[in-house]
Amino acid sequence: MVAVAVVNQKGGVGKTTVVLGLASAASARGTQVLVVDLDPQGNATTGLGVFEPGPGVDEVLAVESPGGLAAIVEDSAWPVDVGPPPRLAASSPSLAVREPQLATDPLGAQDRLAMAMRGGMITNEGSVQEADLPLVLIDCPPSLGLLTVNALFAADSVLLVTEPGAWAVDGVGRMIQTIERIRMRRSNGLPEEMGIAVNRLGRTRDGRYWDQQLRAAYPDRCLPPVHLRAAVSEAAAQSLPIHGLGRRPGVAEASAEFDALLDRILPSVAETNISHDRSA
Ligand SMILES: Nc1ncnc2c1ncn2[C@@H]1O[C@H](COP(=O)(O)OP(=O)(O)OP(=O)(O)O)[C@@H](O)[C@H]1O
Ligand SMILES: [Mg+2]
Repeated sequence: MVAVAVVNQKGGVGKTTVVLGLASAASARGTQVLVVDLDPQGNATTGLGVFEPGPGVDEVLAVESPGGLAAIVEDSAWPVDVGPPPRLAASSPSLAVREPQLATDPLGAQDRLAMAMRGGMITNEGSVQEADLPLVLIDCPPSLGLLTVNALFAADSVLLVTEPGAWAVDGVGRMIQTIERIRMRRSNGLPEEMGIAVNRLGRTRDGRYWDQQLRAAYPDRCLPPVHLRAAVSEAAAQSLPIHGLGRRPGVAEASAEFDALLDRILPSVAETNISHDRSA
């Protein structure tokens, strides 16, 4: 099992869209995914078709709860004909209140999610075992607060999502510094940096310019892009996997882009497993 935090402190760049697109690609490939929705906005939760979630991540973060995530994992509502629907650790608006409360813990509360995910994740009735859960995607809020920090302490690797716009290079730089600071605090050299997914790449000159700036600044880190397409936002709005949207324009192209991104993540996932084994 490998956990990937999907991050950027900037809002609206497509973190949730990439989480849902990757979950869709994994599902279409027959791979069971768990989506952990750490954003009080709950966009990944509703994107997975869950509008009245049961107890969610907030309950798990409220107290130190070793292995506690298993108890709140629920099924998503994506159709089964695409592939195994993702499982979900749901968000709730109360997560926004939890964040300042976590900051008052004198021992530090940055590792509560890591603790909750530790030790044979999903073992309650009807749930999958850890060995059957190759990928966990953690959707982060648009900030560098304690929720995102919890994701970075729990994750094996980090996927940075950005759009090719003004200040994107600066924003990515700040995020990389934060990831490095967290890595120094964790004893196992994690989270590894998986790369930068450039999302909402349009056909405009401006988009191409900022995409080139990002690729010049981070030549080895940029992953295959995801283009701006109506089909991508339609999938989210309809709470459906992009791979299940049928023959509408742009669906095949967008699905192929998320497949390509997943291809880049899965080899890295395998390497992370190896480095885990070494550090164990
Ligand atoms: N590739 C894309 N093509 C078309 N629309 C997109 C694409 N990526 C994202 N969007 C749209 O852009 C908006 C913002 O995307 P999204 O919610 O995924 O960003 P976010 O980074 O998760 O935002 P937040 O920081 O608020 O959590 C949404 O309406 C989404 O549907
Ligand atoms: Mg989001």
